[in-house]
Amino acid sequence: MHSYEPKKFTIPALEGISQKQIDVHIGLYEGYVKHINVLREQIADLTEKDAEKYQFAIESIRRRLGFEFNGMRMHEFYFPQFEGGATDAPMESALASTLSEKYGSWDAFIAHFTSVGMSRGSGWTVLAWDRKGNTPHVWWTTDHELGTLADVEVLLAMDMWEHAYMIDYLPAEKKQHIDAFLNNLNWNVVTSRFDSKN
Ligand SMILES: [Fe+2]
Repeated sequence: MHSYEPKKFTIPALEGISQKQIDVHIGLYEGYVKHINVLREQIADLTEKDAEKYQFAIESIRRRLGFEFNGMRMHEFYFPQFEGGATDAPMESALASTLSEKYGSWDAFIAHFTSVGMSRGSGWTVLAWDRKGNTPHVWWTTDHELGTLADVEVLLAMDMWEHAYMIDYLPAEKKQHIDAFLNNLNWNVVTSRFDSKN
């Protein structure tokens, strides 16, 4: 059976995000990858054993797949955004023009992205390109899979689960985590996602 392998990330020293925080977080990411494989194996095993008898169990496992799969995929958007080290905001890029046009200015986009990041609960703040609507969107995904948008290109994914920052920050310091996340970004990763969108 096909199985998923965790990806490796080369993350430089960050400011305001400790190595321990990153190491623990990558360990959690690897757990998602492992669990997709485990769930798929369990579906196969139960189906082979007695698909009718285990129908409810199989369906329950299948319902869980979106959580583990998106948990893997969202972190695969997340960690590479730090690779290569922090850059200045890409003010001269096509991405910056598009975002400034929609949100009023680059700073207004950052303020909006930050305020969505401050949403209560565990989840993700995502900037994506909707190719069919020809427009960017910022939204909140609860957990990894609830409320996410179909058929859009993820450009920037900010992990707002407590596990992403609670080694370095208290829950009440969520805003500092957002600032640290934004300050450590390699925006070239984000602009290349935008430039290679379909
Ligand atoms: Fe995470």
